[in-house]
Amino acid sequence: MSIIKTAVFPVGGLGTRFLPATKAMPKEMLPIVDTPLIQFVVEEARACGIERLVFVTGRQKHAIENHFDHMYELEANLEAKSKTEYVHLVRQHLGEPGEILFTRQMRPAGLGHAVWCARHVVQDAPFAVLLADDFIDAEPGCLAQMIAAFEANPGNYLAAMQVEADKVDRYGIAEPADDQEPESKSVRIKGLVEKPKPGDSPSRLAVIGRYVLMPEVMKRLSTLDPGAGGEIQLTDAIAAEIPHCPTYAYHFDGQRFDCGSKLGFVQATAHMSAKRGLV
Ligand code: G1P
Repeated sequence: MSIIKTAVFPVGGLGTRFLPATKAMPKEMLPIVDTPLIQFVVEEARACGIERLVFVTGRQKHAIENHFDHMYELEANLEAKSKTEYVHLVRQHLGEPGEILFTRQMRPAGLGHAVWCARHVVQDAPFAVLLADDFIDAEPGCLAQMIAAFEANPGNYLAAMQVEADKVDRYGIAEPADDQEPESKSVRIKGLVEKPKPGDSPSRLAVIGRYVLMPEVMKRLSTLDPGAGGEIQLTDAIAAEIPHCPTYAYHFDGQRFDCGSKLGFVQATAHMSAKRGLV
């Protein structure tokens, strides 16, 4: 099994774009058909043999903790009615006791700050980061593809795809290095910038929310000043490591939906509804 044993799930965001739905409910609990976004990324990580799942949460995120715990009254009720299929559905994603750890980010200070809050769990080992907003339908999962690339050739890996020129200001954007392995899914990069203006962007190669990172990125996060948007950016920590560690934008196989936007969320729902034969 993989040497990546820890995955970090930043789930502290306010979900402003989905108000009022996210007023009292975490955005990560929004379902694609019947399964919350967070469950998809947890299952993607577990499929890679990841044993420690660290959720970096905030206030109002209790529903996420409850989702990964028993709900005795519900389960007893379903069992009494012999609804075994539903009993299975509410238990299958629980994992072993102690696998999931929670820490609070305490204040919204950026993605880099959220990842840094998991430093005591990650310690001095490579780790994964998964953003539930980026829904990726892939088999094997996007993270499994990236870990295979990492194991063949260690470095920092960021999932990536081409985006339209007028959308670069929503993403971390990679600057590919000049010498590339032809046909490789791993594109060596020489620069990385968070949310550039369309005119200033080094490319259209956007970072998507899956990362496999060396422990030096975590150390780098401890020393960073706020970047784009006045926040501590994960992008800046990875960019600072480029001279010291091979860094790759990884072209994954699979279909990605931006579930941080209403349109992407609706498209993901339509895609999974069709895949499951519901429409
Ligand atoms: C974050 C990262 C950005 C990345 C994006 C992927 O941005 O900061 O580099 O491209 O996730 O979804 P956010 O979506 O949190 O603004």
